[in-house]
Amino acid sequence: MKILVLGAAGMIGRKLIERLLQHGSLRGQAISKIHGFDVVEGAIASTDSVEVTMSAGNISEPTVVDALVEDQPDVIFHLAAIVSGEAEADFEKGYRVNMRGTQNLFDAVIARTGYVPRIVYASSIAVFGAPFPEAIDDDFHLTPLTSYGTQKAIGELLLADYSRKGHFDGIGLRLPTVVVRPGKPNLAASGFFSNIIREPLSGLPAVLPVSEDVMHWMASPRSAVGFFIHAAELDGDVVGPRRNLTMPGLAITVGGMIEALRSVAGSKASDLIEHKTDPTIAGIVANWPRNFSADRAESLGFSSEKSFEAIIHAHLEDELDGKLP
Ligand SMILES: NC(=O)c1ccc[n+]([C@@H]2O[C@H](COP(=O)([O-])OP(=O)(O)OC[C@H]3O[C@@H](n4cnc5c(N)ncnc54)[C@H](O)[C@@H]3O)[C@@H](O)[C@H]2O)c1
Repeated sequence: MKILVLGAAGMIGRKLIERLLQHGSLRGQAISKIHGFDVVEGAIASTDSVEVTMSAGNISEPTVVDALVEDQPDVIFHLAAIVSGEAEADFEKGYRVNMRGTQNLFDAVIARTGYVPRIVYASSIAVFGAPFPEAIDDDFHLTPLTSYGTQKAIGELLLADYSRKGHFDGIGLRLPTVVVRPGKPNLAASGFFSNIIREPLSGLPAVLPVSEDVMHWMASPRSAVGFFIHAAELDGDVVGPRRNLTMPGLAITVGGMIEALRSVAGSKASDLIEHKTDPTIAGIVANWPRNFSADRAESLGFSSEKSFEAIIHAHLEDELDGKLP
């Protein structure tokens, strides 16, 4: 079993490769090789049984992507993308990377007769736009209101059509916002969802730029990795023609997140959150989906945390050796 991971140096990509190495097998076959590709350099060590190689390049270059599928990997995880803020700020780059990069991959696969890999594609709940129902169900239409959401929605449509034609066997995953994101605070508008938990758990202050009644749909990095592996294992016939699935998550208010932080780490942690409204971020977040019902994905065996405490514990275990500050 040969695996290709695009976006391998990213937050989920790195964790996905680590989990694949722990599992050692996928779709009932031993993994022999994993190749990770990203626009930035990355390194993950091979194990005794799995050869891991990494290379750097740009998915917007067709010849580069074509070379990546030359040895016909059995499963391709496509996570390479620029994130929403950058895609909104740089319209041309967003389409070049997120849309054309995705099509480059699909076309490179098509170019090889008789080659039908499983492709698992990272989509996003940004494919949906307001006005929203109380909970967005599996029948809600795609009405993205950002360039990033539009690029992800185009990827979903291509994936469904190329799969319908039998060119590959694709599954698209609309990921919830993944929280708690490890690393340093970033400038993404959604960054505060992670910052207000991650920083206090390391004894550091964090700023909350929106009101506590903001509700959003979230899952841990651990669950996100689980979604990709489960999608790779699924029988495509069971999924049927609707190839893009809204992943399970937890709808919780920011106030509920802070309460969970207090219950896990005490008020010494939650008191490190400074409430300082940023009208720009508050305005962006006001148009984001709040809640979903992910019935189709759940019926296909995808699962995620049922409480925000569980999301915090996943972060403590995976990033902080289980230790509280
Ligand atoms: N993290 C989330 O909350 C979330 C939510 C919804 C969807 N997603 C999607 O899931 C995927 C992975 O998310 P993540 O949080 O790991 O993001 P990330 O930004 O950490 O990783 C994405 C990776 O793609 C790489 N990349 C960017 N442009 C590239 C290019 N031109 N060629 C090759 N590689 C390129 C980046 O260098 C980065 O390492 C992305 O497609 C993202 O859009 C993430």
